[in-house]
Order: sequence, then structure tokens, then C-alpha cells
Amino acid sequence: MFFCASSIVIFGGTGDLSLRKLIPALCRLESAGLLVRDFHVYVTGRSMMGSHEFIEKFTAKAGLEKDAVLKDGFEKLKSRIVYVAADPQADNEENNFYQRLNQVETQAAPARLFYLAVPPESMGSFIKLIKPFSDKNLHPGCPIRVLVEKPFGHNLESSIELNKRLLETFREDQILRIDHYLGKEAVQNILFMRFANIFFEPVWNNHFIDNVQISFAEKIGIGSRAGYFDQTGILRDVIQNHLLQVLCMVAMEPPLSNRPSDLHLEKNKVLKAIRRYSADQVAEETVRAQYIADPAKSISGYLQEPGVKPGSTTETFAAGRLFIDSWRWSGVPFYLRAGKRLSKSLTEICISFKALPHSIFKDLGSGITPNRLFIRIQPDESITMKLNSKPPGMHMKVTDVGLKFSYEAEFGSYRPDAYERLLLDALKADSSLFLSSNEIAEAWKFIDPIINAWHSPGAQPMFTYKANSAGPQEADQLLAKHGHQWYPSESGENEND
Ligand code: BG6
Repeated sequence: MFFCASSIVIFGGTGDLSLRKLIPALCRLESAGLLVRDFHVYVTGRSMMGSHEFIEKFTAKAGLEKDAVLKDGFEKLKSRIVYVAADPQADNEENNFYQRLNQVETQAAPARLFYLAVPPESMGSFIKLIKPFSDKNLHPGCPIRVLVEKPFGHNLESSIELNKRLLETFREDQILRIDHYLGKEAVQNILFMRFANIFFEPVWNNHFIDNVQISFAEKIGIGSRAGYFDQTGILRDVIQNHLLQVLCMVAMEPPLSNRPSDLHLEKNKVLKAIRRYSADQVAEETVRAQYIADPAKSISGYLQEPGVKPGSTTETFAAGRLFIDSWRWSGVPFYLRAGKRLSKSLTEICISFKALPHSIFKDLGSGITPNRLFIRIQPDESITMKLNSKPPGMHMKVTDVGLKFSYEAEFGSYRPDAYERLLLDALKADSSLFLSSNEIAEAWKFIDPIINAWHSPGAQPMFTYKANSAGPQEADQLLAKHGHQWYPSESGENEND
């Protein structure tokens, strides 16, 4: 059924995500003329304040002077950004909020997108606030969609419970579960690279691919997010969702079409086929670590970060080797790693191909390296194929060179933020780049046993790594014992930069 939202209602509207990502993304969409006429943004929060106070709060943070597009969009949209107080703990709030929102509503028949940018434990109480707007039993065409921010639960059980709560109030087609990595240009482009070109597919399997690596590194620590992160850890925060979704894009079978149901089906098959670890395998196949201080650079360790519980056993780095039990991927290790407070910020995929079956250049020594394909998600999005080549000269030599497609060189510097793309899709209820509940459940089925094993008696130790370093050496050993290594980025930067 066609849906086009005339407004968005942001729960958690005064929070960090809303101020840093959601409102700026809406302003940019407004500047580009992509929002419908008279589109309204209803921002909700517990505090009692007027819309002008919220606008001041946003402008103090937004850095409008540094961004002409943001400023333009904001100037156009600001009179339609309305603050509405909402406290789900207050008595009879569902009816009061219903009235409050309707009082400020300007449209006769509004079509609303409700955005739940709130912690998983309070989602239920916010769903209750939306209930009076949802008359699904009376009108199947009820003009409401609900967008749910990650994390979707804390484990399999809580994610099933949350899904149940949502389905008590909404139909499945009204629910959009976001993973902002799917809105990134370079992640979307994996589909185009694989399925809009003929030459990758024949080699995209265990006959030609030796191993796949997906790395997520951030220079920043946990900032002011200790309250959230200390209960979450990097495995739940980044691997359960973002990296497993990237893995799906790399590993999925060609979908029948790019319709949401076909994409969800294929991604779900990948997640289902990831081999689950036993407790012993967790110790063997994963590494968890925490950053410690780098006194030379006055960077504190995780345990000294404000808000982190004393003696916390939350991991800020995790790595693992996994297998996808399918015809295509049987025997191919997928190595995943994610960490905070590392030496650089980089998200990249490296597809490492097999060695040559026979080399006619034996007398050149060991110069021939297996081909590698680097897909750089951020920063400086690019795709680089590493090939062996003869450098000019009188001698027979070989060196590896890069065939590089750089987004910036090809398309210029404009790239919409992931939230811009996903909000626009959500306003039209296009769920292609959103997750199905099955995908989320399958991802938890893989992640839960790891977390349980890490927190059981006799679990593998929490390793450490120095803040600003390349991560724990145990992550290198995880690959070394299988004859592999983490490939340095295609730019040749040293991991320890
Ligand atoms: C979020 C995580 O989902 O993704 C953060 O909660 C992480 O911890 C962030 O920093 C990374 O997103 P991006 O778009 O900056 O790579």
C-alpha cells in the first residue's frame, strides 16, 4: 500500500542520535526538496520546554555555520520543528500524548512515521504511547509506520519479546528496523558491484576465495556513552548488527530482485548458515579485549573512562573466525574484528583470493601475492583490486599494484549520510534497506553463545591493547594459527600508524 509520511515523531528527540544525525538528515532532505510540502518534525522528550528552546539546543550543537546545506535546510524547516513533551512513565500518558500531538498537528489526515530512538528497555513504554494512533484492526491502511533504532534487544530472548510487543500494535509491514550501515553508499554498492557486473560472480566462491576479512576500527573511545556501552560491548554494539549485515551483503546468493522480501530472504539464509560456536569453540575462535591507557599520549584506559563500572568486563575489541555452512562458502574462513580506541578509523572488507595453482615465474622468488579485493566502506570510499604486475625496466620483476575506483575521484565529494537515505526510504515505507525480524533473531542466535561463553567460569581471559594501537596481538595470533594475517589496508598504511 502506498505510504508517504507527512510528519515524523521522534521519541528520544533530545538525545544524541536525534541531535547529531536525525534532525541534520531531515534538514538536508528539506534543503534538497525531498520532503513533502509542509512536512513537520515533532520532537519529543521528557523535559517541559518550548519548541524555541529545543531549536536553541539544536543550533548550539549543529555547527550550522560550517555547513551551508544543513543551514539552508534548517532555515526552511525550523518553523515546522515542534517540541511535544512525552513522559511514558506519567499516568494516562498515552491519552494525554495523543491529545497533545493532535492539538499541534496541522494536517487534516496526517500520515506519521514514529521513530523510536530510545533504549531497548524503554521501547515497550513508548510503543504504548503510539497505540492510540494505531487503529490497525479497524483500518488496514492505517497511515502509521514505526521505525525502531538499534539495538534491537539485548539478546535473542529480549529481541523476540520486543518484536512481540511491536506486533501487538502494528502489522509487520508497518515496522522498519534500522541498521544505519545499510544506508552507507559503499555498503549499498556491494550489491551493485556483485550483481550489476558479470565478472565477480564466477569467482565469488570457495574455489577462488581463500578468506574474507571485515574490519571496523574507530579512533574514538566511548566518549560520554559509558552508560550504554558498558552494558553492551563491541560485539553487541557493532558486530551483531553492522558487521553481520556487511557480511550478508558479501556472502548472499543473488536475490531474485532487489525487492525487500527477496533481499531479506537471501540475507536471512546467510545468517542462518553461520556455524554456531560451542563454548569450547568460542575460546578457540574468538578474542575479546579492552583498551588500556597510553600514558605517553595521556589517553586513559577503558576502566578509567567516566561512568564505566569498576572492574568492568565489557569488551571494547572483539575478533572472530566464522564459517558459513553453504555450498558456496564451505571451508572459507570469514574473519571479523571491531574495536574502539584503535590507531585509526577505518571500515574495510578484504576478499583474499587463492594462490596461483602454478606459477611460471618461479625464478622471481616469492614476489607473487594472491589477488586481493579491498572494499573500503569509510573513510574515502573505494574499491581496489590488487594485481601482480611487472614494473618497467630491464629486469623480470613482479610487484603488486592497485586498480582503484575512488568514489571521490569518480563522483565528487557529495555523499548523503546513511541516515538521510534511510529516513527518506522510511518516509516512503520502502523497507529494502531495513532488517526483518528473522535476520535479527538469526544474528542473536550466533552472538548469544559467544557472550554466554565469555561470561562463564573458566572463560578465555580478557586481553588488553594499548589505546591508539592496532589492537591486541591475540587477534593476530587468531589468524596466524591458520596461516593467515590481517591484510593491511589497500592504501598501504601501517596498522600501527
Ligand atoms: C553505532 C554504534 O551503531 O555505530 C557506535 O553504537 C559506533 O558505537 C557507530 O561508533 C559507528 O557508526 P559510523 O557510521 O560512525 O561508522
